[in-house]
Amino acid sequence: MRIGIFGAGGMAEALGGRWSGHEVMVAARDRAKAEKISARVGTWEETARASDVILLAVPAPSATEVVAAAGESLAGKILIDCTNAVGPGAVLTIPDQAERIAAAAPDAHVVKAFNLCHVDVWRMTPPVFGGRPLAVPLCGPPEAVEVVSSLVRDLGCTPLNAGGLDRARLMEATMAFMVGLWFDGHDAQACFPPLPA
Ligand SMILES: NC(=O)c1ccc[n+]([C@@H]2O[C@H](COP(=O)([O-])OP(=O)(O)OC[C@H]3O[C@@H](n4cnc5c(N)ncnc54)[C@H](OP(=O)(O)O)[C@@H]3O)[C@@H](O)[C@H]2O)c1
Repeated sequence: MRIGIFGAGGMAEALGGRWSGHEVMVAARDRAKAEKISARVGTWEETARASDVILLAVPAPSATEVVAAAGESLAGKILIDCTNAVGPGAVLTIPDQAERIAAAAPDAHVVKAFNLCHVDVWRMTPPVFGGRPLAVPLCGPPEAVEVVSSLVRDLGCTPLNAGGLDRARLMEATMAFMVGLWFDGHDAQACFPPLPA
């Protein structure tokens, strides 16, 4: 698959590194950082044009600005939104981040994914806990979710189709709630019973 990545920070490096079996191209404002992730580097626009799927991995407040800079080159592309608009005190600062991104790129197919876990989890090869691969919920149009599911499997994780993009705001709020529990030293996973129960 031809994968574009917007941003060259922790998430870009962690996921881009795990997808090295694909053609990865990176766009970032710091070209030197982008080159550490892939030899293929371009502008936002060039990277989107050369890709089937683009991972948006910039800070949440900058996301719509970066998407706007890529402009029409995102038309028809799958845009993965992993951004988290969470502020001090585990407060959600933007309640509808994925929907805002979709409004900024109306001809792209936006999928919310990879926002629930810390970057160190995405660096794991593979992320498996207690013998169980990490489950990764995906919200977006079904055809796009199907494509991103294969990238989830590439990480050794299990994709979960979690519904349309209208459900992404629930995932975003869940992230803030979980971060609050984790930062307070609680085991968020222990809140949920296994499926048979
Ligand atoms: N870190 C985590 O554990 C984690 C987990 C899940 C989701 N996320 C989300 O993933 C996204 C990326 O996180 P990260 O940890 O990779 O962040 P990061 O390490 O701080 O990297 C952010 C990247 O975005 C670039 N950037 C910052 N402001 C920008 C702007 N105004 N315009 C264009 N590019 C800009 C940075 O460029 P410079 O290097 O030039 O500053 C850098 O390449 C965030 O939305 C975050 O909420 C993070």
